[in-house]
Amino acid sequence: MSDTRPFPLAPRARAQERDVGRTATVYIETYGCQMNVYDTQVILARLQAAGFAPVDDHLAADIVLVNTCSVREHAEHRVISRLGELRRLREQARRPPAVLGICGCMAERLREVLTRQKFRVDLVVGVDRYDELPDLATTMLRSRSESTPPAVAVGHDQTVHYVAPPELYPANNSHLVTIHKGCDYRCTYCIVPYTRGPQSEKPPAVILDEIAGVIARGGREVTLLGQNVTAYHWRRELDFAGLLEQILAVDGLARIRFLTGHPHDMHPQLMDLIGREPRICPWLHVPAQSGSDRILRRMKRRYTRADYLAMVDYARRAIPDVTFSSDFIVGFPGETEDDFAQTLDLLRTVRFDSVFTFKYSPRPGAPAAKLSDDVPLAEKQRRLAVLQEAQAAIWATIAAAAVGQIWPAVAEAPARRPRGHWRLRTAGNRKIVAPVLEAAPGDEYRLRITGWRHTTFVGEPV
Ligand code: 5AD
Ligand code: SF4
Repeated sequence: MSDTRPFPLAPRARAQERDVGRTATVYIETYGCQMNVYDTQVILARLQAAGFAPVDDHLAADIVLVNTCSVREHAEHRVISRLGELRRLREQARRPPAVLGICGCMAERLREVLTRQKFRVDLVVGVDRYDELPDLATTMLRSRSESTPPAVAVGHDQTVHYVAPPELYPANNSHLVTIHKGCDYRCTYCIVPYTRGPQSEKPPAVILDEIAGVIARGGREVTLLGQNVTAYHWRRELDFAGLLEQILAVDGLARIRFLTGHPHDMHPQLMDLIGREPRICPWLHVPAQSGSDRILRRMKRRYTRADYLAMVDYARRAIPDVTFSSDFIVGFPGETEDDFAQTLDLLRTVRFDSVFTFKYSPRPGAPAAKLSDDVPLAEKQRRLAVLQEAQAAIWATIAAAAVGQIWPAVAEAPARRPRGHWRLRTAGNRKIVAPVLEAAPGDEYRLRITGWRHTTFVGEPV
């Protein structure tokens, strides 16, 4: 995932002008989850306020930043090879080297490794340290030489909560609002509690203010973000359902989405609220990870297969038109053919709209890294393919049944293809492409579904 949105220049003094003879420029690439997309907005806002101008072309930038993800080994490898590529392209274009910085989860997990000479990284800035980034970048721009060691700012700070300025309102009309950071659930495969730190809540007043700012700028939809949003709790006074109620009381909001939910925290009271309140979108992204109790126990997921299925049943009764999506890991240590069969069975029982499927990747530092990674790669690949094929078949029947139905949907952005069409999204997070002329992001339509391509429906306005 990459996000290199251009930003308007801040009216503040151009702090960098004196040092490089013109306004210094910054380029950033974003990998990983939506939290990183949000953090990238924060990073750019901080740098912009300090006088840096964001640019879309890394060759034109004085500072090149990569906001990184550690969730799987593959994600980290991609970043490492991208670092080399960014430097190579620069040399080929005969441009002076940029100040190269790593932000995000890899900065926390690999802080020492990344400072080694061979990576030639100038800045290593962890997830709670973005306020320090403008000063570090400025110092590096002024004083860097071949022998300058990298500037490092890492380590968690529970008191830091970022607010992305509302003027960074994204084109797709769903403004991201991070409501907490970190995670206290130590699922044994997961590195997040170590890279992002313990769970820490953004105060409700700050969240409400941020949302009011979005609305003041014409926004009507927010996506509440967190590693585990359904575990939100403010000083034992307010849980996630309570927070939703407070957000609903903010004037002018048309829709609330949220992710990621945890099956353990999908309480009946929360599902009842979602079912009652049409402004909360009936889309539940609740990663199951596995359908086998034995594996769920080893993953320390805090629910059984029966709990998961009971949650789905309850949601289907309480929430009109509810849709589900999920994440699954195949090949967790000790996963047998029978365990995998239960995952496949869960997938077929629930009939998710969409699933993200991953091969287990041992993460040094996460508890499961101590277990033997005993499912061979070829077998992980086979299980992944079987799961994906099963999901494709389920999706095809869901999609076929939708043809002829009429759904409300919100315009997000012009589609790349066909020309003159727009991308729209239903409350249940279904994507539709339709010829809605002169649409603007946020416009609402009623669409008849006429077909589908891959995971996107085709529709026409009625
Ligand atoms: N290996 C494979 N997949 C993982 N995920 C998290 N950690 C790992 C890992 N070590 C997956 C989970 C999670 C999603 C964001 O990434 O399915 O829900
Ligand atoms: Fe990782 Fe589990 Fe926390 Fe999700 S709930 S971030 S999978 S530890």
